[in-house]
Amino acid sequence: MKICVIGTGYVGLVTGACLANLGNEVFCVDKEKSRVHGLIKGQVPFFEAGLESLVLQNFKAKRLFFSTDLVSSVERSDVVLIAVGTPSKESGQPDISAVIEVTGEIARALKKRTKKRRSNQKYKVIVNKSTVPVGMGDIVTKILLEKNVPKKMFAVVSNPEFLREGSAIADFLHPDRIVIGASDSRAFNVIGELYRPLNAHIIFTSIKSAELIKYASNAFLAAKISFINEIANICERVGADVKEVASAMGLDKRIGREFLNAGIGYGGSCFPKDLSALIHLARENGYNPKILNSVIDINEFQIEAFVKKILNLLEKADNAQITLLGLSFKPGTDDLRAAPALKIVEKLIEKGIKINVYDPCLRKNTTQMRIEIFNDVYLALKGSDAMVLVTEWPEFQGLDFDRVKNALKRPIIIDGRNAYDPKKIKELGFMYLGVGR
Ligand code: UGA
Repeated sequence: MKICVIGTGYVGLVTGACLANLGNEVFCVDKEKSRVHGLIKGQVPFFEAGLESLVLQNFKAKRLFFSTDLVSSVERSDVVLIAVGTPSKESGQPDISAVIEVTGEIARALKKRTKKRRSNQKYKVIVNKSTVPVGMGDIVTKILLEKNVPKKMFAVVSNPEFLREGSAIADFLHPDRIVIGASDSRAFNVIGELYRPLNAHIIFTSIKSAELIKYASNAFLAAKISFINEIANICERVGADVKEVASAMGLDKRIGREFLNAGIGYGGSCFPKDLSALIHLARENGYNPKILNSVIDINEFQIEAFVKKILNLLEKADNAQITLLGLSFKPGTDDLRAAPALKIVEKLIEKGIKINVYDPCLRKNTTQMRIEIFNDVYLALKGSDAMVLVTEWPEFQGLDFDRVKNALKRPIIIDGRNAYDPKKIKELGFMYLGVGR
């Protein structure tokens, strides 16, 4: 098929490259010229394992194209995927202005085609891939009709994405499910056909259900994390180990072990934003959600409690120095958006503590914060009062703990992700503190 993907952010670029790799002809569009020029040269603007080579390979094979020209890219496509950002506004409501703007442009493209070839108007499926509030499908349809695009020329579909940063390509190729929300059987067939090569479980729903499935899924995963963090807080008070508790709970198939890792809480560009949006949506429709509000409260509490743990261990905050291992919101990405580590840094700096950071994916200080970034983990640890692990990058398992001990001023390891075995670390002569153990 010929596909236009609007937006070359995380979702757009991964989707575009993977669809091209399945043999489709994909036109990726972005209004940011420098980004498009970079992509043409093979420069992916963020880190995602395997993406750069997939982009290059498909670009060279002439299946993947990059352009700033939305109208002509839409014109030549059968399917148009909208994958632009919907960031949170102050109120928690998602900002849908980018979706509205591109819908206006899509209308221009559809009308241009009508004028040029009246006899052969081509039906297009307009797909919302961006995470959008329930009702957005109706808004997109309304805009297109108001702009006089004939009804028979298009269908609007909701097809939310469930990719995780760090494993986005594998998630695209092996999805647990693909959700297609539409109100027209022709559109179901076109998008069903697009995903047929993946051999995945496809669910057909109404547009509104598909839109809500995305928010409900992210909110549930965040709730699982906050739930286990609450249990971790109870574990600390009664002397149980949350890792043992989670492992045994997870063996119950109805519960499952995934997303039961206690720690400093969730971050990233999705869970915080999507929870706020769902709460906003519920309130707007006359319902005050209780669990969703608690999920956020617990997530904030985890940071407070963790910072207190660090402060209690330092003899005095004045002139203290700590080394953070990791800064990104999770391993496998350089994404710092809503990273719990940044909130910890902010609170520690307020107390006058000097912060050294080592993150495998960070080579310079891209934050506005007063932190020092090191390219060598042992140099970062030199003279610190404690090593504080905040992102569980696999390479932190292979540290030379003799060198760690020699570098630190005091042999203290505070583990915000329960990445280490407390017994082993204590045997190596460290004082160890995890979360909920
Ligand atoms: C999340 C969802 O997992 C994806 O399915 C979804 O498509 C995506 O949001 C999105 O809406 O675009 P992502 O934000 O990339 O994906 O990352 P996750 O792997 O879900 O992790 C989110 C946060 O939860 C991280 O800060 C992670 O450290 C934390 N987490 C995760 C825990 O604290 N404990 C866990 O057990 C699991």
